[in-house]
Parts: sequence; C-alpha cells; structure tokens
Amino acid sequence: MKKLILINKELSIFKKKSIKVEGDKSLSIRFIILSSLSTGKSLASNILKSEDTMSVMNILKKLGIKIKLNNNNCEVKGKGLFGYKFKKNLVLNAGNSGTTARLLLSTLIDSNYTIKITGDKSLKKRDMNRVIKPLKQFGAKIKSNKGKLPIFITGTKLLKPIQYKENLGSAQSKSAVLIAALKTKGQTKLYCLPSRNHTELMFKNILKVPIKIKKRSNDEIIQVNGLNEFKSFNYRIPGDISSASFFIVLTLLSKNKTLIIKNVNVNPSRTGIIKILNRMGAKIKIFNLKIYKGEKVADIFVRSNQNLKPINLEPKLNSSAIDEFLLIFLVAGTCKGMSSFKKLSELNKKESKRLDWGIKILNQIGIKTKKIKNQGIKIWGKQNLNLNKTYVIKNYLKDHRVFMTATIAGLALGGNWKIYDPNSFKTSFPSFLKILRDLGAKIEIR
Ligand code: S3P
Repeated sequence: MKKLILINKELSIFKKKSIKVEGDKSLSIRFIILSSLSTGKSLASNILKSEDTMSVMNILKKLGIKIKLNNNNCEVKGKGLFGYKFKKNLVLNAGNSGTTARLLLSTLIDSNYTIKITGDKSLKKRDMNRVIKPLKQFGAKIKSNKGKLPIFITGTKLLKPIQYKENLGSAQSKSAVLIAALKTKGQTKLYCLPSRNHTELMFKNILKVPIKIKKRSNDEIIQVNGLNEFKSFNYRIPGDISSASFFIVLTLLSKNKTLIIKNVNVNPSRTGIIKILNRMGAKIKIFNLKIYKGEKVADIFVRSNQNLKPINLEPKLNSSAIDEFLLIFLVAGTCKGMSSFKKLSELNKKESKRLDWGIKILNQIGIKTKKIKNQGIKIWGKQNLNLNKTYVIKNYLKDHRVFMTATIAGLALGGNWKIYDPNSFKTSFPSFLKILRDLGAKIEIR
C-alpha cells in the first residue's frame, strides 16, 4: 500500500547552524567503477550508500569484483582493465540509476558472453542510444528495445578506438566513451559539449591515464590513450552539491534563517545552481575552499532572502545545474516577474519528465507557466507566497528529485502536502528526511 508524507507547518527555526550532506553520487559511482578496473585494493571514505550506489556494487560483485562496505568506507579489490568475470546468461540490474547503466555498459565491451542489462520502470523509459551508438563503434554488438533497456551486449576482443561527437552535453555519454577507451588500443578522440568533468579529473589526477583536454569556445576535444593499466587509489568523497541544493533552497525561501553546508564538492561544472541563484539576488558564499585530487571542495553559506529577482537564463549555465532545475523553477516561482529558461529538452529525459513536473508543481501552487516547444519554460512568479491549501504529488515515477523538491516547497512555503512514494529519495540521498527532522521539520509518514 502506498504511504504518504504530510508536511503541515513551516519550520520556525533551524535547530542546527550547519549540516553535512552525504557523499557525491557521481563521484561515488565513478570511484566504484574505476577502482574495479584498477589493480589492487582501493578505499573510499564517505561513500554514498544509496540505492543507486548499491546497484553499481551489486553489478560489480556479479562480475567477480570483491567489494566490502564498512559504514561509509568502501573497499574495492580491482582486477585490472580486463579482470571482470563474464559468465553465460548474466543479467545485471541497474535499478533506477542512469549513470550505473550507461557507465557500466562501457565496461562490458570486451565480454565474451552476451550480457543483459535492465532497470526499473523509470530507467526502462530512458534513452540508451547515447551510449549504444559509440559503444557499437568500438566494436561491441548491442541489441536494445528501440534504444532503451533491456539491452543485450556482446563484447569483442577486437576493439578499435573511435572518434565521436557527443552533442547532448551528457556526462554519462561522455564518460561511457572515456571508460570504453581505457580498454581499447590506440587513441580515442571525443568532441563534446560541456558537462560535469569528474571522469576526466580522475583519469588525469589520480589514475594518470594519458588524457589530453582542449577547451574550445563551444565544445571540448578529449583524447585518451587506451590499454594503460592503473593502480588502486584512495579517495575521500566530498558531499553532493545536488543534495546540498535542497537545503540551500529551503534556507533561501524560509524566513530569517542561515545555514552552512560543510564539505561539499564545488566543481564549477556542478555549481550552476549557486551561480543562478546568486544572479537572482541570493548571496550564497563558498568558503574554506580546498583542492582535493583535482576537485574543488568547500563549505557553503546561505541566508534567507524574500526579495529575489526573476532571471532570463542563458543556456550556457544549463549543464552545470542540470539536476537542480526543479529547485530553480521553484525559486523562480517565488520571484515577482517573469523568468525564462531555454534549451532544456534533456530535463524530460531524466528519472521523470522533469520539465513537466516543474510545471505541475508550480501550477498546483498557483504559479502561471508556459512551456516553450518542449524544451523551455516561462514562469510568472509571485512574491510572498503563503500556501494554505492541500497539494498532492503522485505518479511521478518515484523520481527522487520530484519528491525532495515538493518536500522543500511544503516546508518553505506552507500548505498541507501529501507526497506519495515516500521512499523515493533513497536512490540518491537516504538521510534527506533525517537532516530535515534534525533541523526541526515536522514530517509524518502514514
Ligand atoms: C551524471 C550526469 C548527469 C546527471 C546525473 C548524473 C553523472 O546526467 O543528470 O544525475 O554522474 O555523470 P547527464 O548524462 O545528462 O550529464
């Protein structure tokens, strides 16, 4: 039976001045996959223990990789670039995680057996052509359900390097090519639109894989040389900015509050939300900045602000805020005047149709919106929203970010919210409700 969550009241005070969010999901998944391809024992601390990262670990265990979890420490025994144990009739389930499905497919391109990859209802709706196309070019044989899961992949020992144009600005698609290139003799050359660059930073700063990156005005050229084995490594995973964002927006939209979020990854390819909100008038500060293995890590300070301005966002910032648009739309809904966002067709290809869900949430709370050609949105925000009706969120394919955005809307803006599928946040941020309760939020699950 479906449960639901009720949020009845705005938070009057925050019981804590600072919080920590869990380890970054993109970095956790990359640590697990890349350490499994290294030689020797790698150790990560503060790894994200969520349903998505469990999916990667379970798949790798099926491929013969030994992984131990002890609290948030994760030990992976890598067996080198060609160490996976491929078996007949293997079925791998990536659950809800697009990153897992897409990045792991690229590690199977040398499999001597056909392997089936599948996922949950939401993942089966997502586009896999963005990785099928380049991986076929490397030489793998792939059959899919019209470009979607389930996928059957048969690898080859005769892999050939490729030249590939990645024109979606998808880090998952880019990373799949980069990881496949590791197993391939010769140089793979990738032309790609900007997206999060964690894979490249790990190749360069930790694994010492030969990689060249040339930034041009609109795209990047990345060249990787394959067949270079690399050693195991240790990694301290910083907090996830995408998780921190829910608390940034909660603080911003509440009254007279401040919050510090400690030890967050602030890689510029991820901090679009801070840049965008600051352009809207928020004065979010990044401090205690450190560089750790090529990644920027810092604390974030945010203060409530009831006087934010609308924004006409240039698409250049889209990729660095790609997972945060539901929150950004919510903030735009609280600013007097029209905000507009363009070139966001990728949003409707996420765990749920997030462009549509942004519109649905805003319309429910009385904010006018207009969808522009399935790829953009105009929002006519209202200041000083004080919600007092009942708002129901359901049938959203358990998209964790829809659940968490609706929860933040309820806590910051008031109203009686009934949000179904109250476990959905566990794919990316299992301590979300606990942190809210620690801050003083009254949340019931019935
Ligand atoms: C991710 C990349 C992003 C993001 C996803 C995680 C990654 O997707 O939405 O949550 O770890 O590479 P894109 O492939 O659209 O960049």
